[in-house]
Amino acid sequence: MAIKIEEIGPSRLDEYRSVPIRFEVKSVLEPVLVNYGLGGILLRETPVEKPYIKDYDSYEETPLDWPKKFDVSKWVFLLAMMNGVTAVGAAAVAFDTTGVFMLEARKNLAVLWDIRVRPEARGVGIMLFRYAANWSRAQGCTQMKIETQNVNVPACRFYQRMGATLGEIHRFGYAAVAEVAHEVMLCWYLDLRIV
Ligand SMILES: CC(C)(COP(=O)(O)OP(=O)(O)OC[C@H]1O[C@@H](n2cnc3c(N)ncnc32)[C@H](O)[C@@H]1OP(=O)(O)O)[C@@H](O)C(=O)NCCC(=O)NCCS
Repeated sequence: MAIKIEEIGPSRLDEYRSVPIRFEVKSVLEPVLVNYGLGGILLRETPVEKPYIKDYDSYEETPLDWPKKFDVSKWVFLLAMMNGVTAVGAAAVAFDTTGVFMLEARKNLAVLWDIRVRPEARGVGIMLFRYAANWSRAQGCTQMKIETQNVNVPACRFYQRMGATLGEIHRFGYAAVAEVAHEVMLCWYLDLRIV
């Protein structure tokens, strides 16, 4: 299949949203404290009793909400188009935007805000990830950050494979949201100076 990555404007975010962002949780990376954490935190993959579907679009804001919530004028939205007609993957990168806590008030940090690939189009993720990293580097960033959760083991394996390393394990990162309070926030960082 012929895949081309396109930069799109916010007016095409409905097309972006047509790419699903759900996956099956079959295992989790359980944090294990060594010596109360002084010896580090191990992440031990553990199967879940009852596998379930997690769909980020169903309880978080959807792509259509981003321009309502943030000034996205410095963001980039990417669509992976198959044969020029079907969106099979999408990604968004946030950069230099006031009020986006994840950007850590840094101008040399970009955030891979979202990445999604249709299950039948696996292989597109690497194209989107690399495009996002190159775009971030072109904005003068030295790192690209990616937030995920310990329940998204496939995404963690993907980010690891892409060369990112864990910068933050926040065991209480979602404590304010009852539905996901049990999840552990994991923030990955890609060093753009060496990739
Ligand atoms: C995560 C996601 C974007 C990755 O896209 P993808 O198209 O499946 O990834 P690719 O096939 O391009 O994989 C690139 C590399 O990562 C590896 N990889 C991908 N998923 C992996 C997994 N679960 N375990 C181990 N390696 C994995 C691939 O084997 C490949 O390595 P290779 O080049 O050595 O073959 C995609 O699986 C997805 O949309 N998941 C659901 C939505 C989601 O969770 N988004 C992230 C939210 S934080």
